[in-house]
Amino acid sequence: MIILRTVDDVRLYVSEQKGRNASIGLVPTMGALHAGHISLVEQAVKDNDVVIASVFVNPTQFNNPDDLATYPRKEEDDFRLLSEAGASAVFAPSVEEIYPGGVEAQAKHEFDLGRAAEVMEGKYRPGHFQGVAQIVSLLFRIVTPDRAYFGEKDFQQIAVIRNMVKSEGIKVEIIACPIKRADDGLALSSRNALLTPEQRMLAPEIHSALKESVEYSKAHSVQATHDSVVERIDALPEMSVEYFEIVDARTLEKIDEWEESPWVVGCITVYCGKVRLIDNIAYRLPN
Ligand code: PAJ
Repeated sequence: MIILRTVDDVRLYVSEQKGRNASIGLVPTMGALHAGHISLVEQAVKDNDVVIASVFVNPTQFNNPDDLATYPRKEEDDFRLLSEAGASAVFAPSVEEIYPGGVEAQAKHEFDLGRAAEVMEGKYRPGHFQGVAQIVSLLFRIVTPDRAYFGEKDFQQIAVIRNMVKSEGIKVEIIACPIKRADDGLALSSRNALLTPEQRMLAPEIHSALKESVEYSKAHSVQATHDSVVERIDALPEMSVEYFEIVDARTLEKIDEWEESPWVVGCITVYCGKVRLIDNIAYRLPN
């Protein structure tokens, strides 16, 4: 696996690969890789001749400076895992390489991300999706991949990136990959490493509550289902639901009745102490 540190190195590598007609898959990450990230790389390896993973903790998508400061960084382990998974190259630039002169020096560009960027994460993390769009669009322009891989753990992120690709006129196929979980059901996340042993023991309750609520939803209203999940999680020590929204998966708008959409997803964010965990579950899937 080749390690690329500069934009010029990536452009050269990509032009060599395109010269031999290789298809290119991109897997953007912020590192501290786990089996969830690796599942995206494995899918990309199946679909493409060449797979480039990026590892870059993007400062512009963090609205909370503490979150950025404590974000785990493990470059050596990341490179080993990517290489073992069959990635052809990793792009791991410095902040200066991506944002020359610093974040503030960048030309301001407001991305049109649609309504999908205003709800849920958009409401609770102002500016977050603009930062995601900034880095992902930059990566798309540098790497010019045929396909790019994203995890359904960040369900809303995929919708927002699809909107960004459309409004920016970028040609790339966005591939959504299923959530990878630990054996106890907790969605894998780089932030899980920040949990205390006690918090880590309780965190799987998020998925249990969601999973059991799917059964409950068959005989209860949207509101009752919503409340049952929030009450169960909020009753646990150190756990506090920031939001839980049951939405039409196509628009991310809240629904009031199950019949309103053929594809319904519940998206949740829970503070486990200071650690912010997100997860989601499908209540209805289109046939
Ligand atoms: P990061 O949180 O590192 O996640 C990188 C990719 O891995 C995302 O597409 C995310 O949805 C996926 N992923 C994370 N945990 C997963 C799991 N348990 N199962 C399946 N996929 C999982 O998301 C970002 O980074 C950033 O916002 C990024 C897109 C890289 C832009 O900076």
